[in-house]
Amino acid sequence: MSCTPSDPLSTDVAVIGGGIIGLGIALEAQRAGHRIMLIDPEPARGATYAAAGMLAPVSELHYQEEDLLTLTLASAARWPGFARALADEGYPDIGFRTTPTLALGANAADRNALAQLREAQAKLGLDVARLSIREARKLEPLLSPDLVAAHLIAEDHQVDPRAVAAAIEARLLAAAQRSGHRADETVVRTRAVELLHENPANTRPRTRGVLLDDGREVHAREVVIANGLGATQLGGLPENLMLPLRPVHGDILRLRVPEHLRELCTATLRGMVRGLPVYLVPRNDGTVVIGATAREDGRDGVNAGAVHQLLRDAQALLPAVAELELLESTARARPGTPDNAPLLGRVEGPDGREMPGLLIATGFFRHGVLLTPIAAHIITELLAGVNDPAWDRFRPDRFSPALQEH
Ligand code: GLY
Repeated sequence: MSCTPSDPLSTDVAVIGGGIIGLGIALEAQRAGHRIMLIDPEPARGATYAAAGMLAPVSELHYQEEDLLTLTLASAARWPGFARALADEGYPDIGFRTTPTLALGANAADRNALAQLREAQAKLGLDVARLSIREARKLEPLLSPDLVAAHLIAEDHQVDPRAVAAAIEARLLAAAQRSGHRADETVVRTRAVELLHENPANTRPRTRGVLLDDGREVHAREVVIANGLGATQLGGLPENLMLPLRPVHGDILRLRVPEHLRELCTATLRGMVRGLPVYLVPRNDGTVVIGATAREDGRDGVNAGAVHQLLRDAQALLPAVAELELLESTARARPGTPDNAPLLGRVEGPDGREMPGLLIATGFFRHGVLLTPIAAHIITELLAGVNDPAWDRFRPDRFSPALQEH
């Protein structure tokens, strides 16, 4: 039966945003027995499309981000089970690799910066082993002999975000089809424009769905806003809810390793090269990902200087990078927040009560792939009425002045 704009769609949980976070949430919600509807004109074509997929809570630790570390470590611990569950359901090809990470320094100042970071990591009980360059080159023979510092981080792994997204979407559609639901009403390829409320004049009462770009309404018991930077564009957000998201663009490259250079490396390499970070992530399919810049210039296109810098600095780690075939350069914006931590959970009103029917999961900044399993878990628990106070510090309303009652 075809739908006209006057036929509302209905579901248990509408997830706005089909990046890896929205997909992960839809997956766990569906496994928990909810009928889900994922709304995105182009699933997995935003930040997920660019992401390298490092599962790196230790090497991506930043000073003053200990709260975030609790979340990143909890999610890293969930990744093996998350990957296994997908494999058990028939989707094993997500590029989950438990190979280690090497942190490398190119000059004396880089060595000092890595040593200071290692001290901070050690104070937090994180396992980082110092290696000699000879030891590092035993592990990765193509590393440059000119490097001056190497640390081994055994627990920082990787996954292929595009493969994860494709696997989850296929899993969502297959399960929905088994329950007799249509594919185009499970993954709805259009834009969500506005939240619908029980009383449209008042944003305090229960959220009851979403208005789509094509005029259709989606009626849902719960709506999850998981569309990254797009969250602030949605109409009908609770009055005075501040979602302080800013775009932090990253340029990233994909290259093919010629047969004679395989395996170029097995570990993920994270370099500090004359003060600039660069990483190189080897994939199962003989490609590598080199990234990533972090710029706040608001420009969506790939920056030529960034491409030059990434290739130059990656060659300082592995000179053979010069012989690879450049396949792709991509730029995408990550959704940054003032404290670099996500906006995750329900929204509290001024009376201390949560606004029913509405959940938020955005602002994952540089950690969307890593944080997918824990975000999916936390949101699914909230859907079931379970709130773990450990995660209250990531509430989406923590930057909002008191939400006003109407
Ligand atoms: N997490 C890697 C990046 O944002 O570049």
